[in-house]
Amino acid sequence: MDKGISSIKPTDLRGILNYVPRFLGQTFVVSLDGSIIESENLPNILLDIAVLRSLQINVVIVHGIGKQLSCLAEERSIDISNSDGSGPTDEATLDLAIRASSRASHQILEALTQSGLKCAITNSVRSKHIGVIKGVDYLRGGRVDRIDSNFLNHLIKEGIIPIVQPIGFDRNGHTLRINSDLLAIETAFALNATKSIFLTECDGLEIGGVIVRQLPVEVLEFKLSELKGAALYSKATHALTGVKGGISRVHVLNGNIHDGLIREVFSNDGVGTLVYSNEYRQIRKATRTDLARIYNLTSGSVEEGELARRNIASIERDIENFYLYEIDGNLVGCVLITYFDSNPDIAEINALFVQSTHQQQGIGTRLVNFACEAIRESGANKALALSTQSFRFFEDICGFKEANTEALPESRRQDYLSEKRNSKILIKEF
Ligand SMILES: CC(C)(COP(=O)(O)OP(=O)(O)OC[C@H]1O[C@@H](n2cnc3c(N)ncnc32)[C@H](O)[C@@H]1OP(=O)(O)O)[C@@H](O)C(=O)NCCC(=O)NCCS
Repeated sequence: MDKGISSIKPTDLRGILNYVPRFLGQTFVVSLDGSIIESENLPNILLDIAVLRSLQINVVIVHGIGKQLSCLAEERSIDISNSDGSGPTDEATLDLAIRASSRASHQILEALTQSGLKCAITNSVRSKHIGVIKGVDYLRGGRVDRIDSNFLNHLIKEGIIPIVQPIGFDRNGHTLRINSDLLAIETAFALNATKSIFLTECDGLEIGGVIVRQLPVEVLEFKLSELKGAALYSKATHALTGVKGGISRVHVLNGNIHDGLIREVFSNDGVGTLVYSNEYRQIRKATRTDLARIYNLTSGSVEEGELARRNIASIERDIENFYLYEIDGNLVGCVLITYFDSNPDIAEINALFVQSTHQQQGIGTRLVNFACEAIRESGANKALALSTQSFRFFEDICGFKEANTEALPESRRQDYLSEKRNSKILIKEF
């Protein structure tokens, strides 16, 4: 355990603890590409899995064999009919796939054992023939017919990590080769897993030449055709199927990154791509349990002079009027509305902040629009914002207009003059 945890700072650990109640007892399906099983980082990944287990997250490992299969084929000069299990699998390829699979499973078993974790290679997948598609016989290529969830859950309950191979058996006990991306998603469905995590050799899903960190499932669906031919097309299609089918979150990340799995699961700015359904993106009212998170989120911006200084006590005083923007339960933005007893016609938008990794995605605009709507609903007819560095954002993007101190409610004017921040005064009338 030492190596995996030693690179995590105590502050990170505190961040991780925020997630513990949320993930407690949930099941994550971790899918390792064949190339990642060969990677030097495998022991670290398995230590990350040990961390997940110690936080009482159930883990099932599904693995691929593409790399092992290609290596065996080369060693033995055998032409394989398909390497990833999505195409026709002839007898020679199946034979090599079985060998490749035992080798890959063994490597995982060995590394898990070295990490002190109990695990078992399972025969939990009943498969059926893909059959003939558009005139092509897929031979010993298989689909998932049924996952034996009782068996897997039994192992999980006993503290054993099940290892699921991309090889299944049909009703008659005949062996078929299955694509591991498909298998991971089907396993996650069968176990009602909340996350399916693909560890691959690429950094994440790339759209328009850029790795997208957070990808709403609707956007993925819309852009899927652009990914055709890309290395991660299979991951993208299965992520889409997974999230549309009810898995809350599917992650695709580079398995060669040290601590990558832990960072992806336990931080706002993951290292790969998170595909999520929109219900996980929301603005909600803050509660007292959010105090420390709001303070941590905004404190950097206070140092930069973008936001006025607020300590925990002052955040607590205003907590009723703080609103938070969350993605997948992670806090990425906030806004505070301040009402003036002496002047109900106007309310102020304060503490507007969007985490740097999530800026330029429309979140700031959504928070301002949300605040304006709440202000309008309160009966006021003007929103006020004071800004030192983002006044153009309020003017150009959100439709505010610069005003002078006359526009401020009396009590606010006195504070404004004594603060000496020289913020620009911006007003939006409804
Ligand atoms: C200002 C802030 C909230 C904007 O959040 P965001 O989520 O990036 O904003 P959106 O994605 O909705 O809008 C992005 C647009 O605003 C523009 N924008 C953002 N900050 C800007 C700024 N300081 N000046 C001018 N334009 C700005 C962007 O250029 C972009 O324009 P485009 O759509 O034409 O490309 C965010 O930058 C932030 O948190 N900044 C630090 C804290 C701060 O200054 N808060 C305001 C205190 S009152």
